[in-house]
Amino acid sequence: MLLEKMLQSQGFGSRKECQLLIKKGFVRIEGEICDNPKQQVQVENLTFQVFDECYQYREKVYIALNKPQGFECSHQPQHHQSVFSLLPEILIQRNVQCVGRLDQDTTGLLLFTDDGQFLQALTHPRKHVAKVYRVVTADPVQPEQLTLLETGVELRNEKGIYQATEVAQLAENQLQMTIHQGLYHQVKRMIAAVGNKVEHLHRQQVGQFSLSEDLAESEWYYLTAQEVEQAKTQDS
Ligand code: URA
Repeated sequence: MLLEKMLQSQGFGSRKECQLLIKKGFVRIEGEICDNPKQQVQVENLTFQVFDECYQYREKVYIALNKPQGFECSHQPQHHQSVFSLLPEILIQRNVQCVGRLDQDTTGLLLFTDDGQFLQALTHPRKHVAKVYRVVTADPVQPEQLTLLETGVELRNEKGIYQATEVAQLAENQLQMTIHQGLYHQVKRMIAAVGNKVEHLHRQQVGQFSLSEDLAESEWYYLTAQEVEQAKTQDS
């Protein structure tokens, strides 16, 4: 691949901007300055430097972020900052998208990608991908509420019933539940339907991706190729 095209594919700007970065000597491969935009590069296992920062070539990107409160999953947020402001510019340039959405006040695991196939595999309604949430409730959790969540509740303006699986009480005012759809405000609406209220919502897991304990709020990392392949091929 041409060096200028490779840089552009990795989010370093337009073809013109990448040519300029190269010509000005800001790009290095194996420690050597490459100032020819038309140089051919092997992208497999390629690492390169731009402004002395090291990067690995990635055909597609897959990101896990520990979302803090007060960020909207939108490029045009209405009342809060955008979750995209937590990611570096090269990822924005690559047009990464959120894999599903979290409310501005929900914390926890939020995935991003620029791979449409991966996005579909995790968000298509027919895939029923499991999403695990920890819920802090306004009122103490009652055993009947747990049972109701598992047997299923009706939600206003939605057809059918909505069931949670693996529902467990964690503390007097805390429970964990898994849902297999992604309706707007689904957990909050299900908790309201059983007569309680969500005080705080945290997503722990999406499919086989879990939020790692040592990932601080607002931090993110690249998912491994192996994890990603499993997600793409997983059946509903
Ligand atoms: N359900 C909700 O109510 N809110 C979220 O952010 C995610 C699931």
